[in-house]
Amino acid sequence: MNPFPEPSVAFSRRSFVRALGLGGGAALTAPSWVSARGLESLAGGDDFAALDRQLQGSAIRLMSNENPNGPVPAAIRAMQASFHEAAWYPASTEGRVVTALSRANGLPEEQILLGSGSGEILKIAVQAFCSPSKHLVTALPTFETPAGTARALGFPVKEVPLDARQRIDLDGMLREVKGAGLVFLCNPNNPTGHVHGKDAIDRFLRAALAADPEVVILVDEAYHEFVDDPSYASALPWVATQPRVFVSRTFSKIYGLAGLRVGYAFGQPATLARMAPHRVSNGVGALAQVAAVAALADTQQMAREQQANREARAFTSSVFTDLGYEVIPSQTNFVFVNVRREAREFQAACRAEGLIVGRPFPPMNQWSRVSIGTMDEMRRAAPVFRKLLG
Ligand SMILES: Cc1ncc(COP(=O)(O)O)c(C=O)c1O
Repeated sequence: MNPFPEPSVAFSRRSFVRALGLGGGAALTAPSWVSARGLESLAGGDDFAALDRQLQGSAIRLMSNENPNGPVPAAIRAMQASFHEAAWYPASTEGRVVTALSRANGLPEEQILLGSGSGEILKIAVQAFCSPSKHLVTALPTFETPAGTARALGFPVKEVPLDARQRIDLDGMLREVKGAGLVFLCNPNNPTGHVHGKDAIDRFLRAALAADPEVVILVDEAYHEFVDDPSYASALPWVATQPRVFVSRTFSKIYGLAGLRVGYAFGQPATLARMAPHRVSNGVGALAQVAAVAALADTQQMAREQQANREARAFTSSVFTDLGYEVIPSQTNFVFVNVRREAREFQAACRAEGLIVGRPFPPMNQWSRVSIGTMDEMRRAAPVFRKLLG
């Protein structure tokens, strides 16, 4: 039982993380921040302390694809009621998140593995399935944790450039599957925001599984909840019958819990069992667990988050297209814009105006990834984009 009275302070969504001290406390140091965020936020040079000060001030955060409104309200309430759990090791309570995910997705609990963010799932997948003789197949550019992990471990990496329409080149990836340990397929893709439809993904999975008798395929669906394209469907149904396909998702994006670190994989038990020994023990904190369970239960809030993102994304895209710049149609909470100049320079210019946009994603060095903020933030950002690009 909670021995403490519930706090009466009404936290706003945006101030809550700061009030907890998660966002407003100690200055971030470069090494921990870089490793924890996979370089996602690295913005404008390497002065992390200065950037952190700016982010704690009035700068608009458009660099890490977070939820600009903060944690969903149900998660805030659940954490307020559970502060006492912060004193306890959380290992034995992870089951409540697994049970909630199982109910929400209609999958048995044995088919769910939690991670300290889905980043941990990506990392342990490489550890489990790649080796010096079993390479990783990944796209370029795409989310970099798998390739970074493989390189750090000395495992070979085959990176497949995007096709001429800036989509993940599924045929190109297929050509690299033979002999691979793991294929990493990010759908929708980060940083482009493009999503492949169900038919293309199904065809790819069938062909990839046939191309190598042992290869395992990880479909990263971190942005699943934002997709509107009716041709898209999750790869989740594959998990029921195919032990060599598994799916990762996260609470960091639409649920606004990036600071808490909760991600998960859906896969067959034998597949998850190969990854589980590589996990960090107690890797999902107690407050992260209660927040995740509460967030999942509030399905109406999900629709509100989707709508807010959809509107601000359409507005943001049109700011750039009205200026004559190419934007890849996005199915996520960010847009990728061809700014026709070095993205690093554009990023620095934005930063001087109080906007922190994404870092460059080689080899697309003239494209800038802009995360979607609130509509108010995007309205404030628009004149800056017009001034810099007009
Ligand atoms: C495609 C993709 N996968 C995984 C992650 C990792 O997110 P987290 O560890 O917060 O779940 C991210 C973060 O930006 C991402 O963009």
